[in-house]
Amino acid sequence: MEGPDGDELSALNEDTVPTLRARLRQTEQEAAARQRQLERYAADLREVFKQERARAQELRRSYRATVRALSNAVEARDAYTGKHAERVTAYGMELARAVGISLEESPQIEFGFLLHDIGKVAVPDAILFKTSRLTDEEYTLIAQHPVVGAEILRDVDFLGEGKLVVRHHHERWDGTGYPDQLSGDDIPLAARVFAVADTLDALTTDRPYRPGGSFADARRVVAAGAGTQFCPTCVAALHEVSDHRLEELRMGLSA
Ligand SMILES: [Fe+2]
Repeated sequence: MEGPDGDELSALNEDTVPTLRARLRQTEQEAAARQRQLERYAADLREVFKQERARAQELRRSYRATVRALSNAVEARDAYTGKHAERVTAYGMELARAVGISLEESPQIEFGFLLHDIGKVAVPDAILFKTSRLTDEEYTLIAQHPVVGAEILRDVDFLGEGKLVVRHHHERWDGTGYPDQLSGDDIPLAARVFAVADTLDALTTDRPYRPGGSFADARRVVAAGAGTQFCPTCVAALHEVSDHRLEELRMGLSA
């Protein structure tokens, strides 16, 4: 069979090349249009993410402000422990980082630290501030504050695992704490961290009956309680935080 001769080929080219060029141009235009559309989608998505992030940050700021307001309301009763919740939270956050808790993933822990003693609202001043020996009934009432606190916060969903700190901040590693006599790893890690931070602050803060001690002395007391009162891992984490850093955290809150 004979193929197309020269004349036929050039006729074919005259016909086909412009058509192909036109089709190519059209394809290119369509591809460019699709690309522009994709870029618009990407820009829209970026904008949505940005707005979502801003909203999430705003929400978290509101949560934090609400929690701080509540915490301040609890603290306002007691002039001597002023800023205790803020300090213990600052120490606790530093220790939590040192034991490897991701505060990004668990921001509610901070709220639990701030609100740990909220249950004390149910303890009358006459008992809470009593300087003489407590009766058994009075002690029992005070020892209820973690349960009362957890109950007060029960339906506040955004507090998440922070509520575990409230309930278990007086448990002891050896199981002799309260309210549930949990021991060892059964005690939520954040609550174990908190127990160390709480003692650290209690020992280094002035009280009506004694001046606050040094961080060095407080470290010795905490170290002596490793494995009985305190989680050994949390005590070890305290070694990673320098006195200088603790002082910085305390001074940052002293105003
Ligand atoms: Fe407490």
